[in-house]
Amino acid sequence: MTTPRSLSNCLAPAKLNLFLHVTGRRADGYHLLQTVFQLLDYGDQLHFTVRDDGGLRRMNPFPGVSEEDDLVLRAARLLRQQGVATGRAGAADLGADIALEKRLPMGGGLGGGSSDAATTLIALNHLWQMGLTRQQLMQLGVQLGADVPFFLFGGNAFAEGIGEQMQPVDTPDCWYVVIEPGVMVPTPAIFSAKDLTRDSKHVTIADFSSSPTSRFGKNDLQAVAAGLYPEIADAIEWLSAHGAARMTGSGACVFCAMETESAAQQVVKQVPTHWKAWSARALSRHPMAAFLSDQATT
Ligand code: C5P
Repeated sequence: MTTPRSLSNCLAPAKLNLFLHVTGRRADGYHLLQTVFQLLDYGDQLHFTVRDDGGLRRMNPFPGVSEEDDLVLRAARLLRQQGVATGRAGAADLGADIALEKRLPMGGGLGGGSSDAATTLIALNHLWQMGLTRQQLMQLGVQLGADVPFFLFGGNAFAEGIGEQMQPVDTPDCWYVVIEPGVMVPTPAIFSAKDLTRDSKHVTIADFSSSPTSRFGKNDLQAVAAGLYPEIADAIEWLSAHGAARMTGSGACVFCAMETESAAQQVVKQVPTHWKAWSARALSRHPMAAFLSDQATT
């Protein structure tokens, strides 16, 4: 079968952290976590077309984001560099035009930038016929951000370390209401806050699986983020009237599980108009999982 020259409508799904415990800190300042990452049927969309002249172009760059900070371009360059380093013929001339339709907010805790980077690695690994395995892509991904390996894992995960040590986990097939409180939370500021508790006790995947999952554990970053941004505290308070509401990642978005699509839509309709809100179904597999392989293909 010939490899296509382009891939359109590649989803970069959002994630939620169903709980997030900070259990310690590494010597390099990164925090040790325990979390469950949940994929959602809602996210950004990317379109890729191969170029043979080595050009890597974002068709619609974000205003104010430099090429060096653009995770999509950084992911593409890192993959090409890997090809050059391993002596793949013609690697230096690999290029692509990449268009990104952005739906996920920046600084929202939904993993938007990380998911865009992961989808870029998956799509270009296929289009450029690089033949990297899922594990090799995850090793590249962690260089781009702590959440990137999760979006290359293929399914939902119980994660430890800085988030890169993962085991598959079953999560409920349900719907989530997500509120975007309209603030952009700088992740490093939340992790470095003086009053962050960093000593949550260790839990096991069995502890998580045996509890009603939307009430399991807590998000240790929530108190710090909600203290700095009252909009987050307000959104949690509003959503708590409909179930167990919690913040995802380092914020700002907050979520609540619902059993059915119609229940989720009913809540979304009532959300005060100064917040953006939407509902999404829990996914069990990454939408690009078919492109991930545990066996080297070249
Ligand atoms: O890796 P990523 O870019 O997502 O992380 C942003 C920042 O959040 C890091 O520079 C670090 O300050 C903090 N962080 C952390 N521990 C983690 C993940 C992120 O301290 N496990």
